[in-house]
Amino acid sequence: MMRVFNKNQSISDFLESLSTQNFSVGFVPTMGALHNGHLSLIKQAIDENDHVIVSIYINPTQFDDKHDLDKYPYNLEEDIKILKTIKNDKLSLFTPSNFEIYGKNISKENFNFEGLDQHMEGKFRPGHFAGVATVVKKLLEVVRPNKAYFGEKDYQQLLIVNKLAELLKFPISIIGCPISRDENGLALSSRNSRLSTDDRLHSSVIYKNLLLAKDQLFTTEIANIKASVQEFFLNDPKMELEYFEIVEADNLESTSKINKNTKYRALIAVHISNVRLIDNIALN
Ligand code: PAJ
Repeated sequence: MMRVFNKNQSISDFLESLSTQNFSVGFVPTMGALHNGHLSLIKQAIDENDHVIVSIYINPTQFDDKHDLDKYPYNLEEDIKILKTIKNDKLSLFTPSNFEIYGKNISKENFNFEGLDQHMEGKFRPGHFAGVATVVKKLLEVVRPNKAYFGEKDYQQLLIVNKLAELLKFPISIIGCPISRDENGLALSSRNSRLSTDDRLHSSVIYKNLLLAKDQLFTTEIANIKASVQEFFLNDPKMELEYFEIVEADNLESTSKINKNTKYRALIAVHISNVRLIDNIALN
């Protein structure tokens, strides 16, 4: 049977009993509305650890837009059903309340991410990463896992969490996991549930543009790749492009010239029918 904890103290006691048995602990933090992207992280964590904690907590401090927070899908019973399909006695769920995480003062801490939080998501969602880092720090302090799993879907978040672990000097490995997509290439996201069937199908153009950019990396000037993506979305009646960037994969600095020994990544954010979608791809 899957254990469900909602208090720091009760999960700490349980984790203490695991550590006396020298169990390794994997941790998969989520905001729920679980889909196959989350499940791929959870399955990888189960393969690589003696026990796995999944957390479901919609963190208010990482929402720069209150409307987005209010609309964020929440259905704990459904999520528990989904977790039970994994049928694994190595799995426990942590569903803390706001009070458990923040006490009476819901506020965020600022960190120095050496510029990683200045681009893209950080630019368009002010304070977002301070909120993410605040909650991830608090969750890691409670769970103290050996490994924590994050999706490349939120590539900038993955780099920032890596930097956070380094800053905090926690003895932990941050594991980046590949992006799960639907059959048309759309990256799975809890926000996809707010899209109509038509919009969901239409949104496959996001990944198609990323693939096109990848094909052109060594044949076309960066400025021209960017211009053609921008033009594509200008001509798309349903979608509005927020950003499309080609950056160095390690530091997210934008680039205008390709160097063979450097890894690059393309990242994109678009709006469709009041839903904001992000995606990215490794270019080389
Ligand atoms: P959430 O959006 O629920 O995502 C939880 C984890 O699942 C993140 O690491 C995310 O990158 C990963 N994920 C989401 N969609 C994915 C996909 N299609 N393929 C692979 N991985 C995917 O990210 C958050 O929650 C929050 O910011 C959190 C880290 C929990 C802090 O509140």
